[in-house]
Amino acid sequence: MPLAYNKRTHTCGDLRAADVGKKVLLCGWVATARDHGGMVFVDLRDRGGLTQCKFNPDTDPKAHEIARSLRSEDVVAIEGEVAPRGPKNVNPNLSTGEVEINVREIDVLSRADTPPFEIIDDLDTNEDTRLQYRYLDLRRAPVQKALIMRHRLAKTVRDYFYRHGFLEIETPILTKSTPEGARDYLVPSRVQNGKFFALPQSPQLFKQLLMISGYDRYMQIARCFRDEDLRADRQPEFTQIDVEMAFVQPEDVMQHVETCMAEVFEKILGVKVPLPIPRITYDAAMRDYGIDRPDLRYEMKIRDVTEVAKKTDFNVFKAATDSAGVVRCIVAPGGGEMTRKELDGLAEEIKGIGAGGLPYVKVADEGGKTVLQTGVAKFFAGDAMIGELLAASGAKPGDTIFFAAGSIGDVCKHLAWLRETVAHRRKMIPENTWKWCWVVDFPAFGWDAESKSVFPMHHPFTSPKDEDIGHLHLSDEGVPPAADLLKIRAKAYDIVLNGIELGGGSIRIHRADVQSKIFSILGITREQAQIKFGFLLDALRFGAPPHGGIALGLDRMSMLLSGSQSIRDVIAFPKNARAVCPLTGAPGDVAETQLRELGLHITRPAT
Ligand code: AMO
Repeated sequence: MPLAYNKRTHTCGDLRAADVGKKVLLCGWVATARDHGGMVFVDLRDRGGLTQCKFNPDTDPKAHEIARSLRSEDVVAIEGEVAPRGPKNVNPNLSTGEVEINVREIDVLSRADTPPFEIIDDLDTNEDTRLQYRYLDLRRAPVQKALIMRHRLAKTVRDYFYRHGFLEIETPILTKSTPEGARDYLVPSRVQNGKFFALPQSPQLFKQLLMISGYDRYMQIARCFRDEDLRADRQPEFTQIDVEMAFVQPEDVMQHVETCMAEVFEKILGVKVPLPIPRITYDAAMRDYGIDRPDLRYEMKIRDVTEVAKKTDFNVFKAATDSAGVVRCIVAPGGGEMTRKELDGLAEEIKGIGAGGLPYVKVADEGGKTVLQTGVAKFFAGDAMIGELLAASGAKPGDTIFFAAGSIGDVCKHLAWLRETVAHRRKMIPENTWKWCWVVDFPAFGWDAESKSVFPMHHPFTSPKDEDIGHLHLSDEGVPPAADLLKIRAKAYDIVLNGIELGGGSIRIHRADVQSKIFSILGITREQAQIKFGFLLDALRFGAPPHGGIALGLDRMSMLLSGSQSIRDVIAFPKNARAVCPLTGAPGDVAETQLRELGLHITRPAT
C-alpha cells in the first residue's frame, strides 16, 4: 500500500522532544542523504524546516534499501516513529534538533536531476543562474524567510487599514497612462486595432476618482509598472501599499502611515518606532544632507564654507563663487587616517557622477596647534583663514574635510554621494538601527536649466500649499513667471527610512481650475489635457472632495525588514537588472500572426 501523502501529520519543522513515540507521516525534499555504512540518515526538508530521518537495515531493510538510492531534491513520503536523539547528536541550531524519525516505510514520489546549484543558505552562484532556476532558489531557507516575512507584512498592513475603515478596491491594469515620471509599458489592443493600453505606473488617477465617488478611505496592495532604469531598489513591476482618503490634511495621512509602520515593526521585528516620526523640510534636507531622502543613522552634515573659500586663491573655489555658486564640505570624523590610495580612489569615483575632482584637507594637531595638511591646505593661508574654515566646518584634528564647489544642485549631488560613500567605507553606520523621517514642504516645481523651464517635482495632481496658491495667478490667463512658480511649495510628503524613500504622497488638487492651470504651466495644452486626462477634469467638476493619500513601496519595505540588499531578494519571480525574467525568458518574440492581428510590424535594428 503506498503511503497516503495527503494525510501528512506534521511539517518538517514541527516535531519536538514532547512528540517522542508518536507515529508520523512526513513529506518533503531530500536535503542530504548520508550513508554511514549501515544506517542511512536523510535530512528531509519542506517549508516548515528540516527533520532527520534514520533508516536501519536490520529493522527495516526495504526502506533502508530505498534510502540508499536517494539523491538530493528527490521528493519522498516517510512514515515512522519519533525517537530522541542521543545527547551527543542533539542539534541546537535546528527546531527539530532533539529528535529523529526511525523510518519504517518510504515512498519515492519524484526523482530529481542533479540541481544546477546546491540548495544551501550561503549560496555563491551568480544571480542570473539563481533566477533562471528560481523555483530551486526559492527552496533555500533565507529566501523562504524573506517571502514569509513579506506575507506577514502585507497581512499586518491590510489588518491595520481594514480595522480603520479602509476599503480594499482593485483598479484596472489595462488602462491609460498614469504619469509618475517613468515610461509606460504598453499593451496593444487587437479589438481596437492600432491602439494601446498602458499598464498603470500607479493607481493614482483611479484612487482619486474613487474619492470623487465617495469611497472615502481606500487602500490596495497594488501592482505598478514602470519602464525605467533599474537599480537595487527598483523593479519594472513592483507593489505599492496604496492609500487615499477624503476630507484630510497631510497630517491625517501621515498619522495613519506612522501608526501602521509602528505596528509592522513591532509585530515583525519586535522593534518600537518612536512616534511621531520627525519631519524635515525639503530645504533643510537639501542643505544638511544634499538629498531629499537623508540617511540619519550618521551625522556628517554638509556645511557651507563659501565665505572662507572666497578668500582663497584656489581657482576651483574662485570659479564657483564667481559664477554665483557655492562651496560646501563634509567632515569625515577620524578621516585623517584615510590613505592616499583611498582618497585618490574617491576622487576618481566622484568624477563618475560629474565632479571635476575632490579637493580635501586633513586637519592635524602640531604641538597643540591645529593645522591643515596635504590636499588644498596651502590655499588656506594664515591662522585667521584656518580658524574660519574650522569654525564653519566644525572639523577637529584627526578629521578630513572634503569640499565640493559649483552650482547648488551639483554640490548637493556630489556631497550626498560622498557622505553616503564615506559612511559605508568607514563603517560609520550602526547596525540594527532604524532612522525614520518625513520630508515635507517640497517645492511644487523644479527648474531645468537646460530647457529653461519648470518641471513638476511630483505627479501633476499634487496640490500647492494653501498659502502659496496665490503664486499661480489663477485669475490670469497666461503662465505665471518661473520665479513665482519656484516659490510654490506642495502639500507633499515622503517617508524615508535609513536613507531609502519608502513612500510618497500628497494632498491632491480637487479644483478643476487649479488642475487646468497646472497642466498649462507644464506645457500640456487644453486639447492634450482633454485627451490625456479629460476624464479626471470632468470628474473634478462633479463634486470632488478635498482628498489626499500616499503609496509605500512594499518591496522596499520587505527588503529593509529582511535585511536584504536588493528588492529582487523579496520578490518571488523578479526581473534581472536588464528587465528580463531569466526563468521564463520574458520578454520574448511573438508569432508573426499575432503581430498581424494586432496590426503591428517590427522593424528590427540591423544586427
Ligand atoms: P511614487 O512614485 O513616489 O508615488 O511611488 C511610491 C513608492 O513606490 C515605490 N517605488 C518603487 N519600488 C520599486 N520599484 C520601482 N520601480 C518603484 N517606483 C516607486 C517607492 C516609492 O516611494 N501615486 C504616487 C503616490 C501618491 O501620491 O499617493 C506614487 O506612485 O517606495
